[in-house]
Amino acid sequence: MLNTVHRALFDHYLGISRMLAGQLDFHSAIRAVATEIKDIIPHDHLDVCITMIDGQYHTAYESGFETDWGKRAPAPLAQSPIRTLLWGEEDYLLTADACTDPRFHFKGAFSQPILAQSLRSRLHVPLKVQGDVIGALSCSSRQAGLYDLQDIANARAIADLLAPYFFALRAAEQAKRSAIVEAEARAREEGLRLGALRLTEALEAERQRIGMDLHDETLADLTRLSRRLERLTHQPEVTGEALEPLFRGLQHCMQDLRQIIEEAKPSILQLFGFVEAVENHLDRSTRDSGPTIAWALEDNSAGAAERLDQTVSTALFRIVQEAISNAIRHARASEIRVRLEASDRSFDIAVIDNGIGFERPVKRSGCGIGNMKTRARLISAKFEIGNRSEGPGTIVRVQLSPATAMQEALA
Ligand SMILES: Nc1ncnc2c1ncn2[C@@H]1O[C@H](COP(=O)(O)OP(=O)(O)O)[C@@H](O)[C@H]1O
Ligand SMILES: [Mg+2]
Repeated sequence: MLNTVHRALFDHYLGISRMLAGQLDFHSAIRAVATEIKDIIPHDHLDVCITMIDGQYHTAYESGFETDWGKRAPAPLAQSPIRTLLWGEEDYLLTADACTDPRFHFKGAFSQPILAQSLRSRLHVPLKVQGDVIGALSCSSRQAGLYDLQDIANARAIADLLAPYFFALRAAEQAKRSAIVEAEARAREEGLRLGALRLTEALEAERQRIGMDLHDETLADLTRLSRRLERLTHQPEVTGEALEPLFRGLQHCMQDLRQIIEEAKPSILQLFGFVEAVENHLDRSTRDSGPTIAWALEDNSAGAAERLDQTVSTALFRIVQEAISNAIRHARASEIRVRLEASDRSFDIAVIDNGIGFERPVKRSGCGIGNMKTRARLISAKFEIGNRSEGPGTIVRVQLSPATAMQEALA
């Protein structure tokens, strides 16, 4: 028959088991059982410390009040005032006054909370699972000389109840941590994969652009030149006069090639941004063009141009470049204007000249306009070319779709 003292203890142990059930983390588990434990072992502070699987660190979970033991987690096992217990060298620790007990104050010991909170009576028993120490249960009181061996025996019974539960919690935490590490590694890999994909896309787009430029400008010219050369070889007399246009054509080709190479290099666009790159292009190309052409850049985009995704801004820049080239080559204009407009939902570029106006080309011409359209389609932008409604000349207009513009604004 159980006597009444044993009966009460037994009830408390049952209570502890009941309280533990369903607690999914260390903190709530320790807090759930602390009150029941208090009825068996009176204390001001209680903690369960759990060693980590590597055996080098431990974490303390506290109840009563918080000390730096709980805040400094995980902490090196070697600095724990109860390290001999955690290492399995001792089976319990009992002191009447921890503030003066030299066992807790070795060199490097993290015993500051003992002194800070005046923890005098202390008792410590190991949490064991299948003979292995996985942590310790510690009770402390500010009153000196409170605990005896009976309390140690009771603490052991409680520790035996807690140990398997905390062992399972530790395994679950460890699994959760591994899952997080794994998820992070996967995310990093995915990030790299996406980065590589973007780079490949950018390189491919650049390769296509150089291909388009070579095809439009240089190859077409070279084909024309070679046909003329072939015709010349059939003529009996070849004069310097006949060679003159061929010579000029060749020079033109070389100039185009130089330009293509120039544009393939990391450009002002990357270095200084969109607006400056457009300005620079306007300035340089109007200067090289012969008859004086005035230019202007109206930037009402409030910096939105510089926030565009690089793929988008490169495509827009190439479109603007071709529109400016066309205005210089074909429009016989005295003025070229580039206008940037942006709101929070839109981004809009126009290249406007005051030249002869745009006729749908009849003669075979390059595919500059085709390329502009393709580039616009690739970034889901709307492309238009036509006569200006107010005054003479041509307007080329590109509008980013609201989705693309918004995306840029959010980026
Ligand atoms: N700003 C413009 N003003 C007048 N005509 C233009 C303008 N832009 C393009 N064009 C006409 O459209 C034609 C096609 O242009 P494009 O496709 O760029 O080929 P390319 O410039 O090689 O001729 C040009 O040959 C020209 O007749
Ligand atoms: Mg052109």
